[in-house]
Amino acid sequence: MLTVPEFAKRKKQKEKITMITCYDASFARILSESPIEVLLIGDSSSMVMQGEDSTIQASPESMVFFTKSVANGTKGRKFLVSDMPFLSTRKGLRFAVDCAETLLKAGAHAVKIEGILGNEKLVSHLVESGIPVMGHLGLTPQFVNAFGGMKVQARSPEDQERLQAQARQFQDYGAFAVVLECIPSAIASKITNDLSIPTIGIGAGSGVDGQVLVLQDMLGFNPEFKPKFLRTYLDGKSLFIDAFHSFHEEVKSAHFPNEQESYL
Ligand code: KIV
Repeated sequence: MLTVPEFAKRKKQKEKITMITCYDASFARILSESPIEVLLIGDSSSMVMQGEDSTIQASPESMVFFTKSVANGTKGRKFLVSDMPFLSTRKGLRFAVDCAETLLKAGAHAVKIEGILGNEKLVSHLVESGIPVMGHLGLTPQFVNAFGGMKVQARSPEDQERLQAQARQFQDYGAFAVVLECIPSAIASKITNDLSIPTIGIGAGSGVDGQVLVLQDMLGFNPEFKPKFLRTYLDGKSLFIDAFHSFHEEVKSAHFPNEQESYL
């Protein structure tokens, strides 16, 4: 299993890091038998698992539920990062520490925090308390209302300068890695070259230190969702629908179950 000190080593050795979201024990068991190094229990769970239209609906309780489910599936075989959900870092240090504590007790090895502004003290307090922090910058989905939608961020030189400074801040306050989401490749590469901690990109081009995708998106469960950055590795929706058709037809035609599938 990858550990926190190994993240910086990976960067030094120019070995890319792979991360995929996961929210349940079934997929966690399968992913544990794969080479994927990091599982992210993202607050995208509110969209993927609960059908909400943003990550705003994720709560400390739902994040603990999904984290525990994944940890039950991996049984210590993968490094787990859980998202600190919407506003959990903005209700005072005590609330945030309690939230991070419940996520670690549910099985996470680290927490991910969207945005550094106003979270500076919290990041160093968590890190000094033994709770590793992964930062998240760029298109941080918890800020969807402030951004006016899910739009590529940091297009202007001023925004790019601000973003680079924020990535630096995450590093300076003790984060061990930073996710860069939906930003131009050139600024993602520039930030990556500027930091000693690894960057993990989603929609940030190839010049970053690792890549993350949402599991159900990369498996093609939701083919209508086609952002530019997404590559699908399976035609999952069609495969599942074919299986459901087969079951339905075999039941209707009395071909399932057969004698071997029945108790005598
Ligand atoms: O919640 C999530 O799935 C994420 C990734 C997209 C990085 O934060």
